[in-house]
Amino acid sequence: MKFFIDTGDVKEVREAAAMGLVDGITTNPSLIAKSGRKYREVVVEMCELVNGPISAEVLSTTYDEMMAEARDWHKLHKNIVVKLPLTQDGLKGVRTCTSEGIRTNVTLCFSPNQALLAAKAGASYISPFIGRLDDISETGMDLIQKIVTIYQNYDFATEVLVASVRNPTHVVDAALIGAHVCTIPYSVMQQLIKHPLTDLGLQKFVEDAKKIPK
Ligand code: G3P
Repeated sequence: MKFFIDTGDVKEVREAAAMGLVDGITTNPSLIAKSGRKYREVVVEMCELVNGPISAEVLSTTYDEMMAEARDWHKLHKNIVVKLPLTQDGLKGVRTCTSEGIRTNVTLCFSPNQALLAAKAGASYISPFIGRLDDISETGMDLIQKIVTIYQNYDFATEVLVASVRNPTHVVDAALIGAHVCTIPYSVMQQLIKHPLTDLGLQKFVEDAKKIPK
């Protein structure tokens, strides 16, 4: 499973990349707003740091405006994947982008049928938001299982990018299902590292190391 980092913070990208945990990056307007920096500036810096797909989201919602933004992002750097919302205009955008050789990530997917439409339109990635489904008492991971099954049934090339990841269980379950990509916040990556037995074991090794004759 590929690991993307879900962030608007370049420092987090650097830290995670130093551990070999960044195959790509996803951003969204909310994450970039948190950084307090300009969207374009952040994405350019990310492209310099990571040689993998960097999802940059369009900010408009109509087809013509989204296409203008998509072409603009595409011109900026070869690693940029254009993120479009799962709406009628968004799907039209995906179809046009595909025909122009622009890779796309379809965001805000909450149902298997939406994922099927994105694949039909030629999306490179589909982003089902599992944490937000959990928030409303649905099991987000069931959606991942259904999408993976549908895509396998018909050999769609669209990759399942598990998004809105909130905890380590989401990551291991995505991997067990066989999702192509999991986009993970830096805080969750840090949680993945931790195990109390690792800490205890290391403490003992450090203590015993002091007893070794020099
Ligand atoms: O990748 C999408 C993600 O950023 C949304 O996460 O936690 O806001 O639902 P969240």
